[in-house]
Amino acid sequence: MSQISKQTDNSLKFAYWVPNVSGGLVISKIEQRTSWSIEYNKKLAQIAEQYGFDYALSQIRFTAGYGAEYQHEPVAFSHSILEATEKLKVIIAILPGPWKPVTVAKQLATIDQLTNGRVAINIVSGWFKGEFNAIGEHWLEHDERYNRSEEFIKVLKGIWTEDNFSFHGNFYQFNNYTLKPKPLQTPHPEIFQGGTSRAARDMGSKVSDWYFANGNTIEGIKAQVDDVRSKAAAEGRTIKIGVNAFVIARASEEEAKAVLQEIVEKADIEAVQAFGHAAKQAGQASPEGEGNWAKSTLEDLVQYNDGFKTNLIGTPEQIADRIIALKNIGVDLILTAYLHFQEEVAYFGKHVLPLVRERENKLSSNN
Ligand SMILES: Cc1cc2nc3c(=O)[nH]c(=O)nc-3n(C[C@H](O)[C@H](O)[C@H](O)COP(=O)(O)O)c2cc1C
Repeated sequence: MSQISKQTDNSLKFAYWVPNVSGGLVISKIEQRTSWSIEYNKKLAQIAEQYGFDYALSQIRFTAGYGAEYQHEPVAFSHSILEATEKLKVIIAILPGPWKPVTVAKQLATIDQLTNGRVAINIVSGWFKGEFNAIGEHWLEHDERYNRSEEFIKVLKGIWTEDNFSFHGNFYQFNNYTLKPKPLQTPHPEIFQGGTSRAARDMGSKVSDWYFANGNTIEGIKAQVDDVRSKAAAEGRTIKIGVNAFVIARASEEEAKAVLQEIVEKADIEAVQAFGHAAKQAGQASPEGEGNWAKSTLEDLVQYNDGFKTNLIGTPEQIADRIIALKNIGVDLILTAYLHFQEEVAYFGKHVLPLVRERENKLSSNN
């Protein structure tokens, strides 16, 4: 069943959100044939890799917050998915605070060894004060959270690449520490990060391999791409960009739009409003007011990472064209979510991905 078209290093990468929390990826009472069970997720990962997806991104949550009553822990869950697949890379979400860099470095080095170098990490900096309160974690203000995450990433890189590693920061201290075994991947597993505020962009430009943006319009994404890339260039670095999108691919545009309308009409308004309240606070908490969700409407928030805004909603042709438009503004990876994950990852792989590859090949032969 797999039809993986020819790819080059310059080809767009594709990822999907791992539904390791209950309730799917939209806060809606619409039917979602998606399960957070490991059996469902193993099969999903196998389908995704057969169709040429490159990555799966897990989520970290300690409390329900918005829907998501049950939340599997991402390190253990991701390892299980990796064991069920052969090529897919799994990006493990880690929240500094509850996790210490030394434990993460060691756990992920072992998983990397056990899975032939297929682990990656997404450093999330935390946005939900109620969650931190519930688990007894000290809450840092917005930019301090990013200062801590930046140190966290520097330390991870140090432990993963050096012997006798020493570090004396505001949050972490190390003295002559040597990790053995180190990860299989060199120089180290890829480091992703999530967040769109100025502090997030500054951190990305200094230390991360990948910057993940919430869903947005093409103009909104371009502004971030340009800012992160120019800041990275000033640091003498390059950085890759991933963008979130909720995909509704159907045979006709009307059908796809009707699905979006039904998701929104059946939104769990109470849960969306509760999330919206916390998310707006988080978005406006960044000093410049440009954080995630700072400009999201209630309808946007039904997909909790603004995935409708990217507008991958329509026919396979329309979606492929919009994906190429994202590539043309410098996006390297499309992070996707769906209503019915197994069925729709297969549909996307069968009907959308080949069109994207065709268009990419045309682009590269024109250049
Ligand atoms: C693609 C992506 C994935 C994320 N995954 C998680 C997650 O699993 N858990 C979490 O607590 N926050 C997650 N976040 C939230 C961010 O880490 C960050 O706290 C949030 O985007 C607010 O950032 P900002 O206001 O500084 O832009 C994610 C964000 C993005 C863009």
